[in-house]
Amino acid sequence: MSFRIQPAAPARPNRCQLFGPASNTKLFEKMAASGADVINIDLEDSVAPNDKDQARTNAIAAINNVDWNSKYLTVRINGLDSPYWYRDVVDLLEQTNGRLDQIMIPKAGNAMDIYAVDALVSSIEMAKGAQKPISFEAIIETAAGLSHVEEIAAASPRMQALSLGAADYAASMGMQTTGIGGTQADYYMLEDGEAGADRARHLADPWHMATVAIVSACRTHGLLPVDGPFGDFSDEEGFRAQARRCATLGMVGKWAIHPKQIALANEVFTPSAAKVAEAREILAAMEQAKKDGLGATVYKGKLIDIASIKQAEVVVKQAEMIAG
Ligand code: COA
Ligand code: MG
Repeated sequence: MSFRIQPAAPARPNRCQLFGPASNTKLFEKMAASGADVINIDLEDSVAPNDKDQARTNAIAAINNVDWNSKYLTVRINGLDSPYWYRDVVDLLEQTNGRLDQIMIPKAGNAMDIYAVDALVSSIEMAKGAQKPISFEAIIETAAGLSHVEEIAAASPRMQALSLGAADYAASMGMQTTGIGGTQADYYMLEDGEAGADRARHLADPWHMATVAIVSACRTHGLLPVDGPFGDFSDEEGFRAQARRCATLGMVGKWAIHPKQIALANEVFTPSAAKVAEAREILAAMEQAKKDGLGATVYKGKLIDIASIKQAEVVVKQAEMIAG
């Protein structure tokens, strides 16, 4: 228990973050016209080393010239372990005028990584007399990032979101998989029974611990927790299952690395009409309980109490924020 009130996350929809490589200019207009809440123009791992300068130039032109409408516009810069990132920040901030909302910092390992980018961004914004501060999202995708996830979340007032980057995370952790998110066939429990008997396999979620750590750090510091990529864009049910698990654990959205995934993410991370109706009924039942002088009551044969009000409000507020 703490007397401190948990800070609210930014009140903007973040159900789907659509990625596209900045080297592929024909995607920009399609991304702008898509149903994604957030657009991530990528300068990092979907751009080949020889294309880095051209990709940066393309990203700047796209920020300045494409009509991004109400999209939350983000660029994923290169990692702090690369020779590209400082030029990404300097050119993006110096050569665009106010439309860019956010910089995404990949492979964040500790709070000092965020501090370093913050120092550079702050200096450029001061020099330009910028009206709108750039916000940050960091990707938790290394062992160090997971170890320091809370200090990363708290590292700067610019921080608005954390994403889990499954592929780099798996590599950094030394996980035996080449899959990008979702089901891993070798991560299972065997049904109890005799050795040699035919026992059912129960698949578990290898991303669970990192997901919960990110949600907890984000909720502690008022950030948006987001699930990263699901590589197999032909597997719609696999994407839905991964997204539903993350929504159940408190995440607010998921990346799309192909347009097919946008509607799926929007569907999962928009509370359903049935869930919202039930939450409103719980609030009404608790209102009645309050009038009757009770802290707990029964709804559809189950206990509800004052904590149920907070749970129901999460669903209702999220639905209202998205609708608004
Ligand atoms: N954003 C918007 N539109 C996209 C898109 C994206 N990320 N990816 C593909 N499209 C468009 C294509 O241009 C094509 O449009 P068309 O019907 O007008 O020709 C349509 O969607 C179907 O594309 P498809 O042929 O199925 O895919 P592809 O082979 O062209 O591209 C990928 C597949 C994976 C290479 C591509 O989707 C991509 O680059 N994704 C993003 C990768 C990324 O950013 N990774 C970094 C984060 S992990
Ligand atoms: Mg990555």
